[in-house]
Amino acid sequence: MDIDNIYLGDCIELIKSIDDKSIDMILSDIPYGISAEEWDVLHNNTNSALLGSSPAQTQAGKIFKKRGKPLNGWSEADKKIPIEYYNWVSSWASDWLRILKPGSSVFIFAGRRLAHRCICALEDAGFVYKDMLGWNKQKAAHRAQHISCVFDRRKDYTSSEEWSGWKVGNLRPVFEPILWFMKPYKIGGTLADNILEYKLGAYNENILQKYDQKTDNIFCIESKSTDKGLHPTQKPLRLMKLLIELATKENQIVLDPFAGSATTLVAALELNRHFIGFEKNENYFKIAKNRIIETTEAPIQKNLIQYM
Ligand SMILES: C[S@@+](CC[C@H](N)C(=O)[O-])C[C@H]1O[C@@H](n2cnc3c(N)ncnc32)[C@H](O)[C@@H]1O
Repeated sequence: MDIDNIYLGDCIELIKSIDDKSIDMILSDIPYGISAEEWDVLHNNTNSALLGSSPAQTQAGKIFKKRGKPLNGWSEADKKIPIEYYNWVSSWASDWLRILKPGSSVFIFAGRRLAHRCICALEDAGFVYKDMLGWNKQKAAHRAQHISCVFDRRKDYTSSEEWSGWKVGNLRPVFEPILWFMKPYKIGGTLADNILEYKLGAYNENILQKYDQKTDNIFCIESKSTDKGLHPTQKPLRLMKLLIELATKENQIVLDPFAGSATTLVAALELNRHFIGFEKNENYFKIAKNRIIETTEAPIQKNLIQYM
């Protein structure tokens, strides 16, 4: 498989043609398994609160097709979604381990609700789970509902007053987990030896200054206008660049199996890393391909962006 390219297709199949121990980092914003989009539905049940078609669901329209359904309102079928997500992650995790070099880092953007299943699946496949980093995205839509509004609609004004100021739902979701794993290095060897042999296993603290970040494990990076409009879950380019520079050196190879609009791949390109990407949605694949071509054809701009 050629480097510096994106391939259209299912990454679970495509990854099988990558050689063992040939990749230096995987950075991927994987589907969170919360049924936010078609490609994010990773369970087989059709009798679920999220996808079912009861009269109540039909009346509510799109709301039940998206995340936001109260957790204790889930059907029995929905309660199996977490284990199905674990099984889905397990279906590719051992190939990720196979293709990576010892000491290499994996950074996964995972949803808060199912990240624990992703951690267990990668651990069970043989990865070392290093840390949960946080991306503080500063802004996020907040969907929690005032319960007093429900009582008002019922004309139960006594309860409405008693519960004034109380909400159902979650606090504003401004942080997203970034799971950090490492492929284990040789048994009986040392990390220092692994760093010398593979140039992998350490992180570069100095580059954090370049991104105006402290040495904390939470990164505060806001999406700019240029980080929007290509994909519904597009990540900030600056954040992807930070993660790439944190754990790789120039000319190493970064893989993103769930590439979307190619933010990871463009970040790698701008930082003089090699890359491979997979994307199974034809529309996003085209967007990604164009973005890579535009970046390749704008070398002067590339150097400017690198230091912004
Ligand atoms: C969370 S999005 C990535 C968005 C990306 N971070 C960006 O900035 O544009 C995940 C992507 O994975 C793709 N995808 C889902 N399952 C896939 C599979 N089995 N193989 C390849 N791509 C897949 C989806 O089509 C979606 O575009």
